[in-house]
Amino acid sequence: MDYFKNRRTIRRYSDRKLTDAEIESMLEQAMHAPTCGSMQLYSVVISRSDAEKQALAPAHFNQPSVTGAQAVITFCADFNRFTQWCRLRGADPGYDNVQSFISAALDTVILAQQFVTIAEMNGLGTCYLGTTTWNAPQIIDTLGLPELVVPVITVTVGYPGENPDLQPRLPHRSLIHYGRYTPCDAESIGQCYDDFESLGQNRKFTAENGKETLAQVFTDVRYTRQANEHFSEIFIGVLKKAKFLNTQQ
Ligand SMILES: Cc1cc2nc3c(=O)[nH]c(=O)nc-3n(C[C@H](O)[C@H](O)[C@H](O)COP(=O)(O)O)c2cc1C
Repeated sequence: MDYFKNRRTIRRYSDRKLTDAEIESMLEQAMHAPTCGSMQLYSVVISRSDAEKQALAPAHFNQPSVTGAQAVITFCADFNRFTQWCRLRGADPGYDNVQSFISAALDTVILAQQFVTIAEMNGLGTCYLGTTTWNAPQIIDTLGLPELVVPVITVTVGYPGENPDLQPRLPHRSLIHYGRYTPCDAESIGQCYDDFESLGQNRKFTAENGKETLAQVFTDVRYTRQANEHFSEIFIGVLKKAKFLNTQQ
């Protein structure tokens, strides 16, 4: 039971090998995760060779965990396979819409997290790459993803080559509501974020970025409006091209 509170993301890996069979076995177990209507609305693409990992690296802003990992696994929302099955069996599929994308994306994320938990419990290190949706067009090209298949999240995996500090979490009581949502006020925001702001690493981070508050590091440096709007537009284009979103909707 100590696993959950002691787990951490691993971004650097040792040279210890992981076989295709080991990766597939963990994925097979992960695929027993809950899934919308038992449809399993996902596919995974495993990149193992140096050439395959290098081809994906720029789409992940060359984060070192990509080329350093034993495997880079791109988890894709996939309604293509199910749609084809319907057509071949005399059924009329209606899955080229946003609701279907959301169902497939939820299935995909649940699968990815189940895989991460299994891998970590087996002594492996993993790192999620949120850059997957930011640079989805490049990933779609590199992996040859067809219509109704969209990359949602990537996980790098390998044996740990580092032992980073645990990252703290917000007080759980601040994130739980009973019966009805209680909106935050200045006092409860303080209760939620004061400890996080006073952590040594976060004070250092704020100073290094020349900001007055940690929140400004998030808004002005890490996740800016400009970047969010830019990548939103790109992702809306991805959903249109993949036929999950059409202009009539
Ligand atoms: C949706 C999502 C996207 C993430 N993207 C990245 C990423 O692009 N690069 C990275 O190094 N870590 C990424 N992470 C890992 C987080 O930075 C990490 O989980 C967080 O800092 C908490 O640390 P911990 O997992 O060690 O507890 C991502 C995690 C999630 C859930």
